[in-house]
Amino acid sequence: MDLFDGIVESEPRNIQLAPGAMLLSGFARPFEVPLIEAVHTIVARAPFRHLVTPGGHRMSVAMTNSGAVGWISDRTGYRYDAIDPHSGQPWPPMPAVFAEIAAQAAAKAGFADFHPEACLINRYEPGAKLSLHQDKDELDFRQPIVSVSLGLPATFLFGGLNRTDRTARYRLTHGDVVVWGGPARLAYHGVMPLPDGEHPLLGRQRINLTFRKTR
Ligand code: SIN
Ligand code: FE2
Repeated sequence: MDLFDGIVESEPRNIQLAPGAMLLSGFARPFEVPLIEAVHTIVARAPFRHLVTPGGHRMSVAMTNSGAVGWISDRTGYRYDAIDPHSGQPWPPMPAVFAEIAAQAAAKAGFADFHPEACLINRYEPGAKLSLHQDKDELDFRQPIVSVSLGLPATFLFGGLNRTDRTARYRLTHGDVVVWGGPARLAYHGVMPLPDGEHPLLGRQRINLTFRKTR
């Protein structure tokens, strides 16, 4: 079977997506309750909002952040900022359980001493998608990206260093963690429109936590 034509089902195992990129199936599942509780606490202070791209497009994914800085987009560009523009206050601090899981997952994928100071929280409702992009607003590309999936399953696209490189599709389910760094740090990736469904803990949504060392 051609890997690039099929969905690779996530079984309880680790799959290499590319040199430097690993899917750790179910890695975060044992922490689902504290992770979801922490998301609720953050969202109470910094609600999800649909950001506008520099091109004026409203993103279908709703976002918020926790940590010393948060990722934001507006008509002037993409950046990390210590202040939530909606509240004028600092972003809620990164919960200990977030930092712990991110560091453990990074270590498992071969990246020791990962201490992210930003966690972007993405909320996908049915139909929401994230177009192919690189995570490149960080200053330190020696550190990986750690991405935790919760809730409804999604199809993750993972490509190469050029936008036109072929992408492989992976099904990400509740508790899966993807880590990409080293030679894969600037790989293009995205998420296909979320199919509708009902998750026992999160209902009709997918929540993704993306941890970054930004500076
Ligand atoms: C992201 O690229 O920021 C999020 C990826 C995901 O939702 O799995
Ligand atoms: Fe990304």
